[in-house]
Amino acid sequence: MANVTIKAEENGPLLVVVDKKTTVTLCRCGGSQTQPSCDGAHEKIGFKAEGSEIEIHKHPESKMKPKSLRHGEGKSFSKMKEEVGLK
Ligand code: FES
Repeated sequence: MANVTIKAEENGPLLVVVDKKTTVTLCRCGGSQTQPSCDGAHEKIGFKAEGSEIEIHKHPESKMKPKSLRHGEGKSFSKMKEEVGLK
């Protein structure tokens, strides 16, 4: 199984790191014009937050198989919002 870490950069975005390679950079300051991705706006607006990180481990008895997501696959963001009752 891949080694997955979610890292909150100090004063910056959330990084999804898979096998030591950053795969996704998510905005947590709310200022990005390319949500949910970070576009560097956190530096311009002076976003301040502590950094931290967690490692994700697959439970040894899990039957879940990894699924790759590519752009255009899976549910759309609007479909997910619809399912949880958001407009
Ligand atoms: S964290 Fe980078 S733009 Fe929001």
